[in-house]
Amino acid sequence: MSSQSKERAARTAVVLGGTSGIGKEIVKSLAEKGMTVYLSGRTSETAQKAAAEIGRGTTGLAVDLSEPESIAGSLAAIGPVDYLVIPAIERDANTIADYNIARATRLVTLKLVGYAESIHALRDRFTPDAAIVLFGGLAMQRPYPGSTTVSTVNGGVVGLVNSLTTELAPVRINAVHPGIIGDSPYWEGKDNSNIISRTPLGRLVTMQEIVNSVEFLLENTGVNGVNLAMDGGWLLK
Ligand SMILES: NC(=O)c1ccc[n+]([C@@H]2O[C@H](COP(=O)([O-])OP(=O)(O)OC[C@H]3O[C@@H](n4cnc5c(N)ncnc54)[C@H](OP(=O)(O)O)[C@@H]3O)[C@@H](O)[C@H]2O)c1
Repeated sequence: MSSQSKERAARTAVVLGGTSGIGKEIVKSLAEKGMTVYLSGRTSETAQKAAAEIGRGTTGLAVDLSEPESIAGSLAAIGPVDYLVIPAIERDANTIADYNIARATRLVTLKLVGYAESIHALRDRFTPDAAIVLFGGLAMQRPYPGSTTVSTVNGGVVGLVNSLTTELAPVRINAVHPGIIGDSPYWEGKDNSNIISRTPLGRLVTMQEIVNSVEFLLENTGVNGVNLAMDGGWLLK
């Protein structure tokens, strides 16, 4: 094992929203590198099921980011943190014509207050070279029918990164903003041909490519305050 791999294996990572989709792939990849990984879902049932499936000593925790007052208590068992990744989302299909206040409030609370409160709750446990990666998305620039709240909160993630880059220093914070990830559970099996035809790559970005981008943002010690679009050039066509 190289000294870089050994150093990596000694790290502790927390992935909030790690029971499915992109978050689960991130947990698998970090655990395969030997890191101690905590993952969460809304319930201990889903979290423990995912942790058991992934194995490698991962721990499943119940953390509901839409209930921010409960977050600090839910994270109490965690010690020092090197990496925090927050991909959690509870999608809300909402339009202004048919506006569901309860669903919009839940998603806005989860993505903006819940993400911020998770960082607040863990702030004294970040190691000096810790790094955080949040998840937004390109629905902020390329909305789709029903994406009104999703588009709104994705823009909020940009603001959160900008603000916390200075507040958290020397801890680094960046965000990944995926386009449509074709092999993720939410988009797999849908007709994405219109999006593919507008993507210069000629295909959609994959979950593995998102995992690679997260690991780049976590590990490259010069990258800070970046909102990284992961869309295969979609916004340019
Ligand atoms: N997939 C894409 O193409 C795409 C595109 C643009 C942006 N993104 C962004 O990428 C991230 C991951 O997306 P995904 O499609 O991979 O997600 P996903 O498969 O829907 O997984 C969502 C995760 O969030 C957790 N979660 C749901 N509600 C929660 C809550 N109230 N509190 C805490 N955790 C909660 C879920 O856990 P339980 O269900 O176990 O509770 C699950 O682990 C999201 O932030 C999304 O906005 C994805």
